[in-house]
Amino acid sequence: MSRLDTVQWGTDRLRVSPWRGDHGIAYVAPAPGEPPRPEALAQCLRTLQQAGYSSVLTSALNPIEQQPFLAQAFSVHEHLHLLRHDLEGDLADPGGPAPAFAQGPAPATSRPTMRRGRRRDRAAVLRVDHLAFDPFWRFDQSGLEDARRATPTSRFRVTVVGHAVVGYAVTGRAGPVSYLQRLAVDPEHQRHGIARSLVLDALRWARRRGAMSMLVNTQEQNDGALALYRSLGFVLEAQGLDVLDRRLERDDHAGAGDPPDADPRRPGTDPGLVDPDRGRSA
Ligand SMILES: CC(C)(COP(=O)(O)OP(=O)(O)OC[C@H]1O[C@@H](n2cnc3c(N)ncnc32)[C@H](O)[C@@H]1OP(=O)(O)O)[C@@H](O)C(=O)NCCC(=O)NCCS
Repeated sequence: MSRLDTVQWGTDRLRVSPWRGDHGIAYVAPAPGEPPRPEALAQCLRTLQQAGYSSVLTSALNPIEQQPFLAQAFSVHEHLHLLRHDLEGDLADPGGPAPAFAQGPAPATSRPTMRRGRRRDRAAVLRVDHLAFDPFWRFDQSGLEDARRATPTSRFRVTVVGHAVVGYAVTGRAGPVSYLQRLAVDPEHQRHGIARSLVLDALRWARRRGAMSMLVNTQEQNDGALALYRSLGFVLEAQGLDVLDRRLERDDHAGAGDPPDADPRRPGTDPGLVDPDRGRSA
């Protein structure tokens, strides 16, 4: 199977990578707010079929972004709640003050400490991610890197207890909008206020950087995350997002027009697109 990481047709550009390292499933992400034209999407599907993929999963799309995909017989794989936090008002924590976590480098105590995430934390962060998320939603290394690079600026924070990473958050900002891209806490350390501190840190960072709002999406049945976000002042948007999927049939190969401008670089290495990672629940 050849490797693709973007498929371009005219001015339409779709980012493509194997879904969580599964080389049978292609993850396809249009640039936010720029749904592909029908012919570009049809060509993309043919290219993916030729590249050996058997099915396609999209990033989380709003109703307008979904239209060309639905016209190509995609169906809803999963509905996600979308929540927004206005950053212009007070950032009061209705849940009460966050636990007094130390910031920055800390001695190895049992007290949770939040600090900047580093490259060498990646394995520990992915371990937390694997413990916290269902297999389908777990990040691999490229997922984590994509989340960090999806916006022009981002913040990567980890919470450590002793020397062990027990929680992390990735937040990004693109213009006036910030995105809580990912949040996970080791199940053995949950319900101790670690996520609340990470989200408050993300909100404060985004506001300092001039963002007017923060968005986060989460699975419909993720009651814990919903309760957390609502307790911190996030409000459910009227319309959520949908992850769509579709099998690739041999017919997708028929009728190809001019060859697309496929970029056979390594998957997951295209940092040029602003993709608020709405395909992943935070
Ligand atoms: C959601 C998650 C990040 C919460 O982490 P946490 O450190 O346990 O959360 P906190 O202790 O800071 O919880 C703060 C508040 O959020 C709410 N909350 C958190 N987890 C909850 C749960 N499982 N059920 C109900 N309410 C919950 C509560 O109001 C809680 O306050 P309380 O403990 O005083 O009642 C964690 O459960 C997790 O990693 N889940 C799997 C990954 C995930 O869902 N990430 C977010 C995806 S959008």
